Amino acid sequence: MELLIKNGTIINADRTEKADIFIKNGKIAFIRANIDVHENVNLINAEGKFLIPGGIDPHVHMHLPVPGGFSSDDFYTGSRAAILGGTTTLLDFVTPHKSQSLIEALHQRKLEAEESITDYSFHVSPVDWHQGIEEEIAQCIEDGISSFKVYLAYLDTIGLNQEVFEKVLKTVGRLGGMVTAHCETGKEIEKKRTEYFNKGFTHPAYHPLSRPSETEANAVKSAIALAGKYNCPIYIVHVSTKESLKYIEQSKNAGQAVFAETCPQYLLLEDSMYQGSFEHTSPYVMSPPLRKKEDNEALWEALNSGLIDTVGTDHCPFTLSQKNQGIDDFRKIPNGAGGVEHRLELLYTCGVLTNKISLNKWVELCSTKPAELLRLKSKGKITVGMDADIVIWDPEPENVISSQTHHQNTDINIYEGFKTRGKADTVIKNARIFVEKGELATDVSNGSFLTR
Ligand code: URP
Ligand code: ZN
Ligand code: ZN
Repeated sequence: MELLIKNGTIINADRTEKADIFIKNGKIAFIRANIDVHENVNLINAEGKFLIPGGIDPHVHMHLPVPGGFSSDDFYTGSRAAILGGTTTLLDFVTPHKSQSLIEALHQRKLEAEESITDYSFHVSPVDWHQGIEEEIAQCIEDGISSFKVYLAYLDTIGLNQEVFEKVLKTVGRLGGMVTAHCETGKEIEKKRTEYFNKGFTHPAYHPLSRPSETEANAVKSAIALAGKYNCPIYIVHVSTKESLKYIEQSKNAGQAVFAETCPQYLLLEDSMYQGSFEHTSPYVMSPPLRKKEDNEALWEALNSGLIDTVGTDHCPFTLSQKNQGIDDFRKIPNGAGGVEHRLELLYTCGVLTNKISLNKWVELCSTKPAELLRLKSKGKITVGMDADIVIWDPEPENVISSQTHHQNTDINIYEGFKTRGKADTVIKNARIFVEKGELATDVSNGSFLTR
């Protein structure tokens, strides 16, 4: 199918231009001013709209197994919410059982993800060090998985101790991959959690108190140092605090391959959300927890200075009834919140429209840089030869975010009541129209696994 998008303004990370886009065989065939319309071409008039590369969310958890069940979006519902918000590619995770082969877990996860309507790939998580795991990591890389996620928290389930973490860094570094890391000092956090609980403190407010800023910053510092020792590129996920930025800055300035991601919740929400009833505070139980206004501000600055490379969502929704598992014990509240649908509109409204970031930076953070760092070679830019993943962004519509109207499979929305402006009017993926006038098309097809 041939598609011609006329009269829009193309926003790439490095430039803005008014030009038409001609799409053929799933790819961007050419871009120039005033392309002639010919018969049989599907014509879209994008006058007054921005044309941006499809969003790439580097961090989502669909149907994530947790001690009390699974996160509430599956690959279909989560990818539907994502694409309606302008995100066309998702990076999820493979989390094996202890001693399970990474290859077998990857195979199972690929089957689960087949119902995704966005394109997708995975970061694979070593959760232990078993016989043959080095070969499995090498095999993953051969099969197109170049990033390996480690958790330095959650020590009782999927977290790694330092010895195993070092082995992962050494192996992945040697094989030319990248390690992505959830940085919180697990041991210290477990101690604090137990102490609070044993004193009878069960409310969600003890979640952030048992994970203070320095537990993240110290883990960031040590993870960066170890990655340097093994010459392994490291990508720190969901950076939430100003203190962590100091170590990221030092290592970047020293020329180390260190990359950082933050999420809208750490830019826009504060720890005051933990004051109130269980029902009103448990939705914000996520790790790391929400921080202070000065952290929000430092993170916004870090987006502009380049200290933070990407914005993901860490989309990991639960329902109120799932959160209720921790009504008598904050440690049992499933950690996480949804947001995959709102990343572009939140960053546009609260970043671009308030002049905190430029339109080009918005595109860089939400698409171009994730593509570059995660080796998605044909995505993240509107240039000739790239996949035709294009969002036609209408800057005008106003919206009030609510769990009543969102498409994420949960009755919670941590951005409830946020007023936004701008929306994904039309979303094209691989040259096909998936979203038209903000609604999902009736004939959407499944997405593809992307090798990286
Ligand atoms: O609380 C969170 N972030 N849950 C999802 C898993 C993770 O740590 O990223
Ligand atoms: Zn995490
Ligand atoms: Zn996560």
